[in-house]
Amino acid sequence: MKPCPDPRVGIIGVGYWGSKHVRVLHSLESVSSVAIIDSREERLRPLVKSFPSLRGFTDLDAALPHVDALVIATPPTTHVPIALKALSAGKHVLVEKPLATSSAGAQQLVDTADQQDVVLMAGHTFEYNSAVWRLRELVQSGALGELFYIDSARLNLGLYQTDVNVIWDLAPHDVSIINLLMGRQPSSVQAWGSRHAHRRFEDVAYLRMTYEDIGMSAHIHVSWLDPCKVRRVTVVGSRKMAVYNDLSAEERIRVHDKSVSFPAGDADLTQPPMSYRYGDITSPYVPAAEPLAVQDEHFVTCVATGARNRTPGRSGLAVVQVLEAAQTSLQSGRPTSLTAHGGVRADLAVSGARP
Ligand SMILES: NC(=O)c1ccc[n+]([C@@H]2O[C@H](COP(=O)([O-])OP(=O)(O)OC[C@H]3O[C@@H](n4cnc5c(N)ncnc54)[C@H](O)[C@@H]3O)[C@@H](O)[C@H]2O)c1
Repeated sequence: MKPCPDPRVGIIGVGYWGSKHVRVLHSLESVSSVAIIDSREERLRPLVKSFPSLRGFTDLDAALPHVDALVIATPPTTHVPIALKALSAGKHVLVEKPLATSSAGAQQLVDTADQQDVVLMAGHTFEYNSAVWRLRELVQSGALGELFYIDSARLNLGLYQTDVNVIWDLAPHDVSIINLLMGRQPSSVQAWGSRHAHRRFEDVAYLRMTYEDIGMSAHIHVSWLDPCKVRRVTVVGSRKMAVYNDLSAEERIRVHDKSVSFPAGDADLTQPPMSYRYGDITSPYVPAAEPLAVQDEHFVTCVATGARNRTPGRSGLAVVQVLEAAQTSLQSGRPTSLTAHGGVRADLAVSGARP
């Protein structure tokens, strides 16, 4: 890939999340200019007032000649057509999660970026979060022992999305975290969901990702309709248990030296465990860098130097395949094999060191 030093960056979709990208990218010295694009003019005005050097556009075609790279933070169903237009024009692209709302769309983006030899990066913000990497080290080093299960909960009241259900909105985070922890996709997915305050889209859902060959599963609970804000991943192993609470100010990771054990020899596994072990609770140091800032700076560095990025289009595709399998399961009421959705990827080994 040809390096593009001091790139000019555009952000399309400057609503709730896109305006955060504007703040971060505007502060980077390695970005020579920032353009903002939104079909709603009233979204542009306050940002241009706060950051007078920004150039605002209501139309992507008019903005494209003024940017080398584009961050896409529009609603999920618009990601593929916007990204295809930018990639086909030879622009480097960072697409917010989910990369696409179908695996065919995600594959099209990966293929187009390869043909154009430009950066395609998935906005998997949690893969730029040091706490998630700390948790990955605990899992991959074997410190927790044999993995029993993973449980992830992402709950709050809102924000309801207009074009996708809660699985496509919130579960991309959990799936990308779990793919990173496991270094691979699950073999099958089962999903349950229900509609309450929203007529069209499920606002509460549960997913079970199964890894048949190792007899392990990961469970995800996502909700737009819960009184309590929860952002928690629990990993339970045979030796220790780790809890990552993204809302905790100082102890985002806590390792519980707790386990249950059976008597040695011919244990009767149909009986309750013979002993429970209670040990220390420790909290490793986790640096406090803002994940979105780490992610966007990494994107700009990859554009400027031609380096490989840590969450390439293929890792976005791997997440979309799981979400699509979950959507199929939601409708059929049965587990869906990932192979039916173009998976299973056992090669999700992460490129690069921890951020
Ligand atoms: N990484 C994260 O932690 C995180 C957090 C929140 C949202 N997101 C993602 O960011 C994206 C945006 O979510 P949001 O909550 O900010 O939505 P939002 O509705 O607040 O903002 C979307 C903006 O896109 C604009 N827009 C829509 N279609 C457009 C088009 N065709 N051309 C130009 N502008 C268009 C809208 O006018 C709006 O201003 C979604 O993909 C969402 O999943 C990511």
